[in-house]
Amino acid sequence: MNSFSSIGITQKMISILAGVNLSTVNRWITKNNVQALPKAHENSRNVRYPIGEIRKFFQEYVVLKELKNNDLVLSFYNFKGGTGKTSICYQVSTHLALMGYNVLVIDADPQGHLSTSLGFDNNHNFPTLFDVVQSKITIDEAIVNIFPGLNCIPSNLSLTRLEVVLSNSTKREEILLRQLENLRGKYDFIIFDSNPTISLLNRNILVCSDLISIICETQPYSLNGLKMLMEDMTVFFSVMRMELPEILIVPNKYEDRSTNSAEAMTVLRQFYSQFMMTDFAFRKSEDIPTSAKQSLPLAFFARANSLALEDTKDLIPAILNRLQLSLNIDEKIA
Ligand SMILES: Nc1ncnc2c1ncn2[C@@H]1O[C@H](COP(=O)(O)OP(=O)(O)OP(=O)(O)O)[C@@H](O)[C@H]1O
Ligand SMILES: [Mg+2]
Repeated sequence: MNSFSSIGITQKMISILAGVNLSTVNRWITKNNVQALPKAHENSRNVRYPIGEIRKFFQEYVVLKELKNNDLVLSFYNFKGGTGKTSICYQVSTHLALMGYNVLVIDADPQGHLSTSLGFDNNHNFPTLFDVVQSKITIDEAIVNIFPGLNCIPSNLSLTRLEVVLSNSTKREEILLRQLENLRGKYDFIIFDSNPTISLLNRNILVCSDLISIICETQPYSLNGLKMLMEDMTVFFSVMRMELPEILIVPNKYEDRSTNSAEAMTVLRQFYSQFMMTDFAFRKSEDIPTSAKQSLPLAFFARANSLALEDTKDLIPAILNRLQLSLNIDEKIA
């Protein structure tokens, strides 16, 4: 597993994530006498600062003050495979944690790709949601700390057996909801990466969610799938006699000079504009697979002009907005 505590983040990256001038970050570091991490090697150019200190900067100046462990539940969802749910879930949850929030991210996909990106070795045996739902352990006991502010319930193939357990339970769509009650007041955000099926586990995730972030590809066929998905969700919530949660459609893998991407965006805007951020699509970028491969969130390695970093940075306020929250950037740092 990566030892994030020894990796740290540069001043430049803190200023990019916070959207403040580099000099502002520099003044804060000097004023608070924040110690840099030892350099990885003698010639390395970048001075890096520990995650715990970076979180303090955000908590003091950027993160909204009113958010105090409200347990807001976000899910990344689509029953179509490979749209980018895990990739975007990974970046959003790690970045929210770096920004000072308390985050629990739950891998609800037996493929365990999110867990791998967070550094878990799938060959090792660790508790998952399967053990929690079976009441073998409490939900607290399944939680692993990754770095300050970021906690995870990892997943592996054991989750495939969860469907049978859920289907034999009473109120089988509300099992996770009851489990999350045991975490009340502990996290700002609880974030689910879902699996690409119409499964009972995914139904449970939908029921818990305050915001469902639907990740879809900007390709013609994925839009047919989206129509089905929206209909399915509407019927599901109506049968459950529950209100539809907030929904944010995030078009992904957008390519600037691609006719398919442009056409897909036109169709999305025509039918779903109320669920979208105007003029936003997550662009295709090699940094996304690189980030997963290296088990390193973008903030630890991406260049200042990375498209994926820029899009992650734009997506976070959009998610917060849908939850009636906003970032208060306070540049008045003495
Ligand atoms: N914006 C992007 N730019 C480039 N590649 C991307 C982007 N988003 C996702 N990918 C790539 O697309 C592939 C699928 O992404 P990912 O695993 O996140 O999708 P998923 O929806 O979680 O898949 P599954 O349904 O199997 O869980 C991966 O190889 C990933 O690196
Ligand atoms: Mg996935």
